[in-house]
Amino acid sequence: MSWVADKKRENETAAEKALMDKDYAKAFFHTAKAAEFGLRLAEESNGKIARRYVEDALELIQIAGELKAKAQSQAPAEAREAVREATTGEEDAAKTQWELKDKPTEKLDDVAGLDDVKRELREKVIEPFLHPEAYERFKVRIGGGILMYGPPGNGKTFIAKAIAGELDAAFFNVNASQIKDKYVGETEKNLQKLFDEARQHPRSVLFLDEVDHLLAKRGNRKIGTVAQFLSLTDGLIRNTNCMLVLAATNKPWVLDEAVIRPGRLGTHIYVGPPDAVAREAIIAYQMRDVPTDGHSGADIAARTDGYSGADIAELCDRAKRIALNRQLASGEDQLVSVDDFTEAIKHVRPSVTSGSLKQFESWRDVRLAPAGAGDDGD
Ligand SMILES: Nc1ncnc2c1ncn2[C@@H]1O[C@H](COP(=O)(O)OP(=O)(O)OP(=O)(O)O)[C@@H](O)[C@H]1O
Ligand SMILES: [Mg+2]
Repeated sequence: MSWVADKKRENETAAEKALMDKDYAKAFFHTAKAAEFGLRLAEESNGKIARRYVEDALELIQIAGELKAKAQSQAPAEAREAVREATTGEEDAAKTQWELKDKPTEKLDDVAGLDDVKRELREKVIEPFLHPEAYERFKVRIGGGILMYGPPGNGKTFIAKAIAGELDAAFFNVNASQIKDKYVGETEKNLQKLFDEARQHPRSVLFLDEVDHLLAKRGNRKIGTVAQFLSLTDGLIRNTNCMLVLAATNKPWVLDEAVIRPGRLGTHIYVGPPDAVAREAIIAYQMRDVPTDGHSGADIAARTDGYSGADIAELCDRAKRIALNRQLASGEDQLVSVDDFTEAIKHVRPSVTSGSLKQFESWRDVRLAPAGAGDDGD
């Protein structure tokens, strides 16, 4: 028993030393060994003590998995390729599971309102992507990914599709929950696979939706998924003209700081709720090709302060249905009227609260603060 305990302790010490030397392969080896001896200790004891050994061993196994992913991402590219070839196989069957079969047809002009956001996207995303040589000529730094943040339902996902539409790029629309796996190390593998797939296209947009589920802060150690993401996006800067990484979240404050630095998801774009002008534009967009009595959307826009883009879309949908039902009941052609909207407004409540807006604004303001705003130098 004490020999096993000694061995466990020996390996834990060796793992700690390797971790300090940043030798993750060695740290992985010794952590896994320590877990193995831990399980033997559990076998040799019983009751509460056995349970404690098991819990401890499980924690070591989890850490070992994270160290293994870290070691793989640290290895030279060829070695990584070899490991991947040896470990894929049946996984290849699911190869294109994330790519959308059809390229999106939406364009930025379809995104109603949000003029500042669209201008920023054209300048920071579309133009650099389409004309990298011009940026290179003037030594204007480009590259890295884009983080869109803001309250739900204001067009982040819609904008991502429109960007892919503008760039005529293959579109990978991936929700974090599709990547996340309960097994240790699997999430990192999925992420690697996704990036590999996207890179096979001459031009691709990789959209990571609800990215806070994937890249949340986890103390000071950069291991696991965050480490994997950092190593994958380090290669981005060299590949700016073929792959664009876009991400969206409505909890930006949850993200690991390293992930939102320049070069990674370094450009931050706030997609807030539409103002009255934008709401009018969304109404016009939702009501295009629909028979209305010709009333102006301005009046409805003025009555829907605090409504998100999705709320407005739902409102329009309800108004259309009210007119449709009237037509079905009367058997005569009907038009969507102001009264239909007034009725619909009673049933659709605004989903954006001033409290949640403040939270986004203060996150943004901290980031915009010029003095001592952290080391962004990597
Ligand atoms: N600016 C806009 N122009 C036109 N339609 C919009 C706009 N904003 C939102 N919408 C409508 O609202 C729907 C929901 O928007 P979307 O899914 O893009 O929001 P989101 O910001 O991604 O929300 P979440 O944070 O919940 O994922 C869109 O499919 C679209 O119908
Ligand atoms: Mg969305």
